[in-house]
Order: sequence, then C-alpha cells, then structure tokens
Amino acid sequence: MSNDSILPTGQRRDVLQTVGGLAGFALIGSTSAAGAGDDGDVEGDGATENGRYALPELPYEYDALEPYIDERIMELHHSAHHQAYVDGANAALETFEEMRSESDYEDVKAAKRDFSFNFSGHINHTIFWQNMSPDGGGEPDGDLGAAIDEGFGSFEAFREEFTATAENVEGDGWAMLFYEPVADLLFIGQAESQNGLAHQGSIPILTLDVWEHAYYLQYENERGSYVEEWWNVVDWDDVCDRYEFLTQVEAGKGKDDDHADETDG
Ligand SMILES: [Fe+2]
Repeated sequence: MSNDSILPTGQRRDVLQTVGGLAGFALIGSTSAAGAGDDGDVEGDGATENGRYALPELPYEYDALEPYIDERIMELHHSAHHQAYVDGANAALETFEEMRSESDYEDVKAAKRDFSFNFSGHINHTIFWQNMSPDGGGEPDGDLGAAIDEGFGSFEAFREEFTATAENVEGDGWAMLFYEPVADLLFIGQAESQNGLAHQGSIPILTLDVWEHAYYLQYENERGSYVEEWWNVVDWDDVCDRYEFLTQVEAGKGKDDDHADETDG
C-alpha cells in the first residue's frame, strides 16, 4: 500500500506518529472506520481518546457486486449486521467504563467476551468491504503476487487452499489471508464466529465472510457456490496495497536496524 494512497491528506502525519496508528491503517485502511470525534459523537472521522467505533461507508453501492452478491444481501449485511457489531463494541466499552467507575467487575467475563466478538466483527467486515470491488477478479501481481507464488507455489494453489479453508469453516466464520510479521510470511487461516482461532499479531489482508447472513438469501445452503463466485469481486489492488504497506513497514524497520548496527559498530 503506497503511503500516498493509504494515508488521507491531513491525517498522515498524526497517524504516523505512533506504531498504533500504523497498525490501525494496516487493518482498516483509514481511521474512518474506527471511531468518533473528540466530542464523543460518532462521526467516523478518526480514532480518539473516546475510542468509539462507527459504521464505515461502503466504497460502492449496495447493488455494485451483482450478479455475484445480491443488493439485498449487501444492504442487510452492511446496514444491519455490521451496524450491530459497531453498536455492540461501543456498548461493551461503555460497560467497561461503568465497571471501572463502580469498581464492580461481577459481569466482566461477559463484557470482555462481548467486546472481543463485536470489535472483531467490526474489523473483519471493514476489511471485507474494502477487499471487494465491482471491478474485481483476476489475480494479484507485484510484491503480493510474488509472495503468494513463493508461499503457496502458485496463485492457483493459493486459491485452492483458500477456497477449501472457507468451505470448511465449522459453522459461521471467516477465511482470511494473513500477513505474519514475525517470520515475514503469508498464511491462510480461519476465524470461527468473529473472533475464534486467534493468530496473535498477524494482520488479515483478505477476509471472506462465510456466515450464512453473507450468502443464504442468494445461494441458500450452497456455500461453495458463493465462495467460487466471490473470487470475481476480489479487489486485488486493495489486497496488494495492504501487503505492500505492511512489508514497507517491515523494510523500514530493517533500515533502522541496519543503521543501529552501523552506529554500534
Ligand atoms: Fe458478516
């Protein structure tokens, strides 16, 4: 992801001041999905100390992904289901504040669980929308294309593994392509529900929702057909941008390390 394309004008410097800001951009592409203004109103204009979440606008119309994903599915999925995760995450944050103010942690287990589920749902969906485009399909080139060839053997092999991973999610969940920064590699994983099967520190760059709410109105119980058609709307430009942004961060870290070695030497 080139810095010019990922960082909105006027926000870049502020965001780049923190590693957390970089991680946020790596997840959601901009701060627009993350939170509220300093006044506490949910405006979708960036994360603040108030730390509230907001439903991001789709980068296309609800009917833009037809015939592969129906307009009604997209409308319900975005306006109802995703909104519910946003609301649930914000409600959990309010519960945390109440518990702290009252020093009453009797319900802490449920509150922590609620936040994990709803916050993860918010992030998963935010990436999912951006990963798709009416001009999608095909396969990636550039650094991501090369990394997929190196990691999986070929794009065809990668697609076969990702498809199998999605089709074999037990119940509701996700298939995801992760960038794993420790070993600097790509891997395909599942998420059960929104937040099960955690891969700590790994960052999803391609997410596929296989909850029934994502396809049942159109594909009924044929998850495999939905997955096959979904490949036609994958926005590889977005996925490539995410990978390049993350690996540029890694490369930048390497340069700093090299410089430190020179200084030490
Ligand atoms: Fe969903």
